[in-house]
Amino acid sequence: MAHVRSLFFDGPLAESENKAFRNAQLGRPSDIIWNITNRCNLLCDHCYMAADGHALPDQLSDEETIDLVKRMGEAGVPVVFLSGGEPMMRPNFWEILAEVNAQGVRPTISTNCTMIDEASAKRLAEYGVRWIATSMYGPAEFHDAMVGVPGTHARVVRAIKSLRAEGVGVVLKTALSVDTWPYIFDIIRMAKDLDCGMIYICDLITAGRSEGEDDSRVSVEQWRELADYIVQDMLDPEMKFEYDIGAIPSVIPYIAEQFIANGMDVSKGLERLKTISACPVGKGHMNINSEGGVMPCQFAQDWVVGNIREMSFAQATEACYQIDLRESEGQCAPENCEYSRICRGCRAKAWQRTGNAMAEDTTCILHPGEQRTIPVLRPESAHQSPGAPCAAPGGCG
Ligand SMILES: C[S@@+](CC[C@H](N)C(=O)[O-])C[C@H]1O[C@@H](n2cnc3c(N)ncnc32)[C@H](O)[C@@H]1O
Ligand code: SF4
Ligand code: SF4
Repeated sequence: MAHVRSLFFDGPLAESENKAFRNAQLGRPSDIIWNITNRCNLLCDHCYMAADGHALPDQLSDEETIDLVKRMGEAGVPVVFLSGGEPMMRPNFWEILAEVNAQGVRPTISTNCTMIDEASAKRLAEYGVRWIATSMYGPAEFHDAMVGVPGTHARVVRAIKSLRAEGVGVVLKTALSVDTWPYIFDIIRMAKDLDCGMIYICDLITAGRSEGEDDSRVSVEQWRELADYIVQDMLDPEMKFEYDIGAIPSVIPYIAEQFIANGMDVSKGLERLKTISACPVGKGHMNINSEGGVMPCQFAQDWVVGNIREMSFAQATEACYQIDLRESEGQCAPENCEYSRICRGCRAKAWQRTGNAMAEDTTCILHPGEQRTIPVLRPESAHQSPGAPCAAPGGCG
């Protein structure tokens, strides 16, 4: 997760991001993504959670969920994302939400929107929800085929309108792949037309029902085309729209370089990235699965560092921060990439590809493929110049 506008300008998330940033500086949890259930009423082709109609066998009990929220409050967690599966399918969803509010934690709901109508949109607003994030993959026929249930696209659009009528902010999310690429610019336009303040674009995660589908990722050139579009959008003084980029952290230094080329001072954003980095793993960002498993990243569900049933929040937080003490390797190592500490490369992809969370990120859009990957893997050339432009003031090196 990396909010481009909030990083380099002042964006709609500046306030909660500031809190998360301060917590990260203090070594506390900055935000938690909590999958409160693995159950889902859709069956998306690409779902990295492989969510379906079944809860995981050892799901936290209702009592445990409320206790966990109380512990989040005590630990001073600023933001929690209630996700899943489909979080609104959990029978005590509203009870959890009420307790989140009571604890002064800011909730965001990551939902497929199929259970949101006018009444529940109103209720979400009353329960203090300022943002929900919902998924969109393309035009109606394509979207419905991808999620496996006819009529979903229309329900999502209706829900977004109801939420906006209640003043709830909406993030439109999409998973970028060769399948969704033809629609990406239409999805961005749709987000703006529906008065969503933000779009979250996540590179395809090849886990769950997408396992082994590395060929379905879009190319470096396509990511660069999209990043260039984002830069031009950001440079338009009339445009206040926010972009959030997931699972491809190299897009952030790439965008910083384009801003620099356009004469912008990006030093504040780059300085900030030394604390939070474009890949949030190990920076106070924590994920909890529906069985209480603590994970450094939601995209690597099998990378579990303990269980919140047996760990204090302080221990779980410390286990995540421990990862930050290790350097990224290969082309992402500090001696090979000047953006190493502010980008880090996608640690989930490294884990999935090699079982070593610190391995290099081979999906980098700044230093793609053979140009770097092969030379830096040879021991005798490990200290060669990385050949990357050192354009970033405040970049690590
Ligand atoms: C797992 S879902 C949970 C929340 C809710 N059910 C939904 O779909 O919005 C969270 C987000 O992950 C995204 N996602 C699922 N599988 C993915 C994958 N293989 N790669 C990238 N994003 C993926 C979905 O598009 C969705 O926006
Ligand atoms: S992406 Fe979301 S809506 Fe789709 S199957 Fe997975 S959890 Fe359900
Ligand atoms: S080489 Fe790694 S750390 Fe450097 S920009 Fe690319 S992904 Fe980020």
